[in-house]
Amino acid sequence: MMKLTYSYISGYHICLIFLQVIASTSENLMVTAPIEHLVARVGVQAELSCQVTPPRSVEYMEVRWFRSGHSKPVYLYKGSHGANGEAAPEYVNRIEFVKEAIGKGKVALRIHNISISDDGLYQCLFNDSAFSYVASTNLSVAAFGLKTQIHVQSPGFGGIIVECFTAGWFPRPQMEWRDSKGEVVPYDSISHSQDGERFFHMKTTLLLRNQSQESITCCVLNPLTGEEKQTNLILASNEIYNKE
Ligand SMILES: *[C@@H]1O[C@H](CO)[C@@H](O)[C@H](O)[C@H]1NC(C)=O
Ligand SMILES: *[C@@H]1O[C@H](CO)[C@@H](O)[C@H](O)[C@H]1NC(C)=O
Ligand SMILES: *[C@@H]1O[C@H](CO)[C@@H](O)[C@H](O)[C@H]1NC(C)=O
Ligand SMILES: *[C@@H]1O[C@H](CO)[C@@H](O)[C@H](O)[C@H]1NC(C)=O
Repeated sequence: MMKLTYSYISGYHICLIFLQVIASTSENLMVTAPIEHLVARVGVQAELSCQVTPPRSVEYMEVRWFRSGHSKPVYLYKGSHGANGEAAPEYVNRIEFVKEAIGKGKVALRIHNISISDDGLYQCLFNDSAFSYVASTNLSVAAFGLKTQIHVQSPGFGGIIVECFTAGWFPRPQMEWRDSKGEVVPYDSISHSQDGERFFHMKTTLLLRNQSQESITCCVLNPLTGEEKQTNLILASNEIYNKE
């Protein structure tokens, strides 16, 4: 009778320990990206980090970052199986795997010299033999055009045509004309194109009929960062000044 009770208790304990082992490997373990939406400028670096919660070492897990539409992972850390990770060809020499806090479940991918082609959704996948966990980070790349020019043409009737050109933007900027009071003057045409590196080139024209207008400003706005560039054209009698 005593013996039976004892074996019942120890069986119960073994069962409890077994349940705790299962619980510790699967207990609401999840991966989060502390920053889900990241904005990075062309040429700088961006850090995509992922964190396992509750914190625990992921040193022996396989961790990969991938993008949809890319066959190779952006970066693959093989955990205990390999000392060095593997980067996709377009990321070789631009990538750093940050693992100082790997013991607490936090790793990051640092991408240097960001280009427009890096824009998009990245997912990190943590994988060990039994489970896999995924988190996403949306990387939006921004570029701010450096050069804006206003050209003036006199078609020979009462008025002048002003054209504003700008290049080197991403994503597609908003463009408008404003008068000396800051009021929007509707354009007569607007067009855009993209070069091989996907930078936007913009052109807008305006036929200025009002001869007493003192100045006109071409405004270009990056909708992602809210940064605006203004280029001002001063219209004086028989003289035109182009001022940035
Ligand atoms: C950064 O990338 C661009 C192409 O996207 C390249 O022309 C430039 O040389 C790179 N700069 C550095 C410092 O690697
Ligand atoms: C996860 O890792 C196991 C080995 O630990 C491997 O066999 C499997 O292919 C991996 N799965 C993914 C989706 O990477
Ligand atoms: C990623 O960001 C872009 C630009 O802000 C947005 O259009 C897109 O819906 C976002 N995607 C996800 C999955 O968050
Ligand atoms: C022309 O511009 C001047 C100065 O901005 C303004 O006072 C005037 O009302 C404008 N005239 C017309 C017809 O828009």
